[in-house]
Amino acid sequence: AIERTLSIIKPDAVAKNVIGKIYTRFEEAGLKIVAAQMKQLTREEAEGFYAAHKERGFFKDLVDFMVSGPVMIQALEGENAVLKNRELMGATDPKKAEKGTIRADFADSIDANAVHGSDAVEAAAVEIAYFFGK
Ligand code: CMP
Repeated sequence: AIERTLSIIKPDAVAKNVIGKIYTRFEEAGLKIVAAQMKQLTREEAEGFYAAHKERGFFKDLVDFMVSGPVMIQALEGENAVLKNRELMGATDPKKAEKGTIRADFADSIDANAVHGSDAVEAAAVEIAYFFGK
C-alpha cells in the first residue's frame, strides 16, 4: 500500500552536509518527499516528539543531541514507505547497521545515528501530524 512515514535527518548528518546524499537514497528507492522543513528543535519539541522514550536511560542524551543543531524533517510517501525507509536507514546502532545503509555510511554512534524514521504506520501518522499538522 502507499504509505507515508516521518523522517528526520539529525544534527550530525546536517552538520556533515549530507542532506542531499540522504535525499537521493529516498528518491532512488521510490520514496517521494511530500513535505519538508529545516528547523532547530526546542527542548520541548524534542521531548514531546520522543515522549514514548521518556523513562529510558538514554532520554536526556537523546534530547540534548536532537537540540544540538538544526534538523531536516520530511514526510516520505511511497509503496510500503515505513518499512522501506527503515531498510534504507539500517539498524539503530550504526555498528550493527548493514553495509550500504544510511546509518552504516553516515552515522557515528547510537545517539548520533544520522536519521530517525517512524517504526509503524500508526506512529508515522502521529509523527507527521506533530510537525506538519493535518
Ligand atoms: P531514533 O530512531 O531517533 O529513536 C530514538 C533514538 O534514541 C534512537 O534513534 C537512538 O538515536 C537513540 N538511542 C540511544 N540509545 C538507545 C538505545 N539503547 N536504544 C534505542 N535507541 C537509543
